Amino acid sequence: MNQRPKLKEVSADIPSPKDITRVYCVANNKGGVGKTTSVLALAEAKAMAGFNVLVIDLDATAVLTVHLGIDRTELQRDISDVLLEISKLSEVIITGSIPGIDVAPSCARLRQQERTISAKNFGGELQLLLAIQSLDKHYDYIFIDTPPNSDTLVRIGVVATAATGVGGVILPCQSEFYALLGLRDIMDVVLSYRGKLDRFLPPDCPVMGPYPRIVGVLPTMAAERQKLTRNVIAAISKVECPLLPTIPRSVKIGESIASGRSIIGYAPDAAPARAYIQVAEVL
Ligand SMILES: Nc1ncnc2c1ncn2[C@@H]1O[C@H](COP(=O)(O)OP(=O)(O)OP(=O)(O)O)[C@@H](O)[C@H]1O
Ligand SMILES: [Mg+2]
Repeated sequence: MNQRPKLKEVSADIPSPKDITRVYCVANNKGGVGKTTSVLALAEAKAMAGFNVLVIDLDATAVLTVHLGIDRTELQRDISDVLLEISKLSEVIITGSIPGIDVAPSCARLRQQERTISAKNFGGELQLLLAIQSLDKHYDYIFIDTPPNSDTLVRIGVVATAATGVGGVILPCQSEFYALLGLRDIMDVVLSYRGKLDRFLPPDCPVMGPYPRIVGVLPTMAAERQKLTRNVIAAISKVECPLLPTIPRSVKIGESIASGRSIIGYAPDAAPARAYIQVAEVL
């Protein structure tokens, strides 16, 4: 029986050689908890700090892809081609509208192909991990956005965090009680792969320990002065997994969407941007 991860598992203890790609998957099977917002903000925080960043869109609604200025109806290739082994990952990557961020885009085809992908060996879950391992361009950071469920595409994202041996799963959790249910479900998905991926880790893997890792729970859309938020954060702390800095609720996040940037590029001094930068610093 897998043990729930303990607090000491925070990923900040990982060595930081420049040539290792860190792979993070942002997941929660509840919708609207801030997964895509978090991917964008963390990716732009790292890009603005001078790192090479790739974001991978595993959500067929393609919100991340569209936010990066890409017309999802005009794509020649998309991430489903990689998962079906039709294209290499490097062949689907394009440049998005935010400087320093490349994107492996998604579109509606991904939803149509999900069943075919999950019928592949090992449920297709290894496909992205292997694609990242054979990527010929170096990225310092890869952030993977996932749909709001715990099905094949989310599992593919979770498994891919073991590609280089450095990275993990970030669990955004909106400050309301139903979000905690989604959190438990996704933690169980992560734990279900523990011990099964060791042979796919690179031989020179710098980190020993259980894989896939949970980086921590990221409380999102928090209104610090509200009793509910305080209670939810207290409940999250009891889940016995690391708690990342809390992201406050702010209208600036909605405004940033219209600007085509993340909150980091749109309003770097706003409270949620400062909080996301704090999170980015431990990745
Ligand atoms: N800190 C915040 N303050 C205010 N609004 C926010 C904040 N974070 C996210 N939002 C808003 O909440 C909505 C949902 O966010 P987002 O799309 O990132 O969630 P998601 O988990 O990716 O959703 P889905 O499950 O549908 O993919 C968006 O309209 C976004 O602008
Ligand atoms: Mg989303």
